[in-house]
Amino acid sequence: MAKYLVEPVDEEVCFDKDEIIVSKTDLKGRIIYANDVFCRVAGFSTAEVLGEPHSMIRHPDMPRCVFKLLWDTLESGNEIFAYVKNMARDGRYYWVLAHVTPTFDANGQIVEYHSNRRFPNKASVKAIEPLYAELLAVENKASNAKQGMEEAAALLVQKLQDMGKSYDAFIWEI
Ligand SMILES: Cc1cc2nc3c(=O)[nH]c(=O)nc-3n(C[C@H](O)[C@H](O)[C@H](O)COP(=O)(O)O)c2cc1C
Repeated sequence: MAKYLVEPVDEEVCFDKDEIIVSKTDLKGRIIYANDVFCRVAGFSTAEVLGEPHSMIRHPDMPRCVFKLLWDTLESGNEIFAYVKNMARDGRYYWVLAHVTPTFDANGQIVEYHSNRRFPNKASVKAIEPLYAELLAVENKASNAKQGMEEAAALLVQKLQDMGKSYDAFIWEI
C-alpha cells in the first residue's frame, strides 16, 4: 500500500511464542480488527490499520500464488494454514504461521475473515523460504503478473504431487 511503503530491511521482528497476532477483515480484505500484538509487531496504531487493506503489511518476498491459494480457499468456505512473511512499518520482517478462517452468519453466508498467527519454528521457515523464493522467481520471470501467478501455482501443485502430499499435509510436516 503506497501510504506506508518502505524498503524491506533484512532484520527480524520477533514476538513471543505464546503471543497470538490476530486480525479480522471484511470480505475485501480490509482490516476491521487488529489486536495489540498485531499493532506492536507491525509497528502501527489501531487507528492506522483499521480500514486499510491487509496488504499494508505485505512483504515483497511473498509469492502472489500463496495469497491466491489463501483467497480461493477462504472464498470456497474453507480454512487455511500458511507461512507468511510480513513487513513491519520500518521495513523489518516477521514470519508467522497463520490460521485464516471465514466467519459465517446464521444463513451460512461468509461475513468476514479472521486470522490467528503464531511465531513459527525456525526449521519450518528454513524449509518454506527456498520454496517461496522459487515460486517468486517464476512469478517475476513471467511477462505479466497473472501468467506468473498461474505458472507459480502450477509449480506448487506439481511439487506437492511429486511429494505425494496435500497442501495441508505439507504445511504440517515441514
Ligand atoms: C483474514 C486475512 C488475513 C490476511 N493476513 C495477511 C497478512 O498477514 N499478510 C499479508 O501480506 N496478506 C494477508 N492477507 C492477504 C491480503 O489480503 C492480500 O491478498 C495480500 O497481502 C496480497 O496483496 P496484493 O494482492 O495486493 O499483492 C490476509 C487476508 C485475509 C482475508
